[in-house]
Amino acid sequence: MAAATSSSSPPTPQRSSSVERTKGPTGLEKIVLREARGWSAEVHLYGGQVTSWKNDHGDELLFVSSKAIFKPPKAIRGGIPICFPQFGTQGNLEKHGFARNRFWAIDDNPPPFPVNTAIKTFADLILKPSEEDLKVWPHSFEFRLRVALAPGGDLILTSRIRNTNIDGRTFSFTFAYHTYLSVSDISEIRVEGLETLDYFDNLNEKERFTEQGDAIVFEAEVDKIYLDAPSKIAIIDHEKKRTYVLRKDGLPDTVVWNPWDKKSKNMQDLGDEEYKHMLCVEPAAVEKLITLKPGEEWKGRMELSAVPSSYCSGQLDPEKVLQGLEF
Ligand code: BG6
Repeated sequence: MAAATSSSSPPTPQRSSSVERTKGPTGLEKIVLREARGWSAEVHLYGGQVTSWKNDHGDELLFVSSKAIFKPPKAIRGGIPICFPQFGTQGNLEKHGFARNRFWAIDDNPPPFPVNTAIKTFADLILKPSEEDLKVWPHSFEFRLRVALAPGGDLILTSRIRNTNIDGRTFSFTFAYHTYLSVSDISEIRVEGLETLDYFDNLNEKERFTEQGDAIVFEAEVDKIYLDAPSKIAIIDHEKKRTYVLRKDGLPDTVVWNPWDKKSKNMQDLGDEEYKHMLCVEPAAVEKLITLKPGEEWKGRMELSAVPSSYCSGQLDPEKVLQGLEF
């Protein structure tokens, strides 16, 4: 039966989806995506970085530090920085690579994308190396990023990286979507889907351990690389009655990071107490390099949903998750 409309109640405003190009307070260009039910997202051309994802009540779901510096060459502290062509620190390349502090361009004519046709709200960006980049990482590439808002608000990031070397050389890289989630209080958060996995502990000389126990909870600094993590992970925020569900494809590992109090104090672009309100859960390809021959393309996808917390813990039995791949 169709719902009756009282003649005295105000008409529900009709919203439509939109994609708008604008500038932030420091002049950096960004694209604002709005979907019909009122969810929105923002992506900066600087870093190709998503810096906002809001639900239909206007609540911010990603953490961006109040001290974030929206000015090159510093990467923006928060949102979803992209780590490429490396995650972490190796060799001469800067930490977490250079993609997060380069200016990306709008990709006006991306090659066909096998996408869900229901998704109409998206932005396509592209990064190609500059002469300076080629000096530190001597490979030609095209990195295409699509940031999409699905009907209903899910945030979907798809990266396509192609080797465009013309001299026959392969290249290898590591990668992460360094996702900063906004949480009510880090000590109240549970992460499900990583229990029982092996991880490398960055705080323990990168030694390999096996996770024990039920779910991951937080009582101190954490910096772990979980290996072969399931394609679906839940981050449960009881206080906010919200669960983030993170799905990933093409990204075998998952990094979990929170700097806690001491490290935060040494970070210029993070407030001393802000670590309490953030958690980084980062779909990544870290432990096995991705190698591309000339002409080859790699794809890595992440989908984030924010659902009311009636979503029960225990639903993410790793066995069931592994069977129920949804990509
Ligand atoms: C995490 C790493 O992904 O990023 C940490 O695992 C690192 O080791 C953190 O400290 C933040 O890095 P940055 O360069 O953004 O300060």
